[in-house]
Amino acid sequence: MEKIWAGRTDGKIDAVADDFNSSIRVDSRMARQDITGSMAHAAMLGKQGIIPREDADKIIAALAEILSDIEEGKLAIDPRAEDIHSFVEATLTERIGEAGKKLHTARSRNDQVAVDTRMYLRDEAAETVELIRDLIRAIRDKAAENAEVVMPGYTHLQRAQPVSFAHHILAYAMMLIRDAGRIEDAARRMNLSPLGACALAGTTFPLDRKMTAKELGFDGPTLNSIDSVSDRDFCIELLGALSILMMHLSRFSEEIILWSSSEFGYVELDNAYSTGSSIMPQKKNPDMAELCRGKTGRVYGDLIALLTVMKGIPLAYNKDMQEDKEATFDGFDTAKVCLRVFAPMIGTMRVRADRMAEAAKGGFITATDLADYLAKRGVPFRTAYKLTGQIVAYCVKEGITADTIPLEKYKEFSPVFDSDLYPEIDPLTCMKKRLSEGGTAPESVMAQIGYIDSFLTR
Ligand code: ARG
Repeated sequence: MEKIWAGRTDGKIDAVADDFNSSIRVDSRMARQDITGSMAHAAMLGKQGIIPREDADKIIAALAEILSDIEEGKLAIDPRAEDIHSFVEATLTERIGEAGKKLHTARSRNDQVAVDTRMYLRDEAAETVELIRDLIRAIRDKAAENAEVVMPGYTHLQRAQPVSFAHHILAYAMMLIRDAGRIEDAARRMNLSPLGACALAGTTFPLDRKMTAKELGFDGPTLNSIDSVSDRDFCIELLGALSILMMHLSRFSEEIILWSSSEFGYVELDNAYSTGSSIMPQKKNPDMAELCRGKTGRVYGDLIALLTVMKGIPLAYNKDMQEDKEATFDGFDTAKVCLRVFAPMIGTMRVRADRMAEAAKGGFITATDLADYLAKRGVPFRTAYKLTGQIVAYCVKEGITADTIPLEKYKEFSPVFDSDLYPEIDPLTCMKKRLSEGGTAPESVMAQIGYIDSFLTR
């Protein structure tokens, strides 16, 4: 295939260099965007009288055919092509001759690749947000079923205070709502058309950039031609948003892995989302969660790779920037596959309320409530805190728990203690009484579910 840029050189590039230079393996997935962009460009060239209308019509009809041929598998994308842009242009010229050679008037691959990538990523962003919503829905449903299931809440991975399982997992729903917002926000900022920026400086042809922008679903044209072809902020922003999303999935994964261990036993993953060991017959492994945790590193890598590519290149386009798509596409592929497996993994996960309740009973998890009991009866909180600490130390020494200390003993610590103390330090009661806004009480959980429902139905 002759190089589209043969002229200044004979285009006879060394075979290894040729393969090195080619991006077709990565950018062929933008065939639809490339062709749609070219159709809009041709229509604009025709309307503006930059090329004859008949030529524009011929180009548009042939491009439509090329697109359907590719999508129906009748036209294979040549893996030896330099990139999708040159492949489409070469195929067009092969099919309609001279008219095809007019398509690239007042355009460069630099603005072309920028417009294709934005259109492609726009769809990827929308699809990813949908997948995030599926996961939020799975968490929401699991929470609704478990609003009264009490478990230990942790700080420093030490049992801290009783919370409901619902409240705990809804924290992830809140993170995911922000993740969706970040992706949508970046996608909104990306939605300007660089087409018509040409190589870097604009053109002397009388373009109608507003027309192509509108035709391709952009909010308008970009304003600076140099920025238009040298900007990859949108890739970086999206990868940043995906990195944060993956960080959240990774933390959730880590908890699911811990919770499904025999030591915790808080949840059991469905067989459909578990694997076994080739040697240890007893094993049931949370591989899906581990893979999501592991793949987080990959997406961070994509972000750092692109930040590093961009940091030292002068304006405007440089070939380094061809690396953008491999990183960004990989980020989306990875995040999407993780989300696809995560939502049903959560949906089918069995919650072991008995194990959580048991864990919430030991470990002085309601010590704060014991101190609050005293504080509510006039003991200054700091004094109450210290007294409670001494009670805990006494229990540890005696090998008993706070709910088994007789009242007389409590009274030795403080005369304020009375028999109404015992229900006050029951984990379930303590959880249910945390009615403060955003607290763990079932009423608050229902309010959170209401917020999530309004997000899911917007
Ligand atoms: N394959 C190239 C890329 O992805 C297309 C742009 C080529 N532009 C150029 N001036 N060589 O970046």
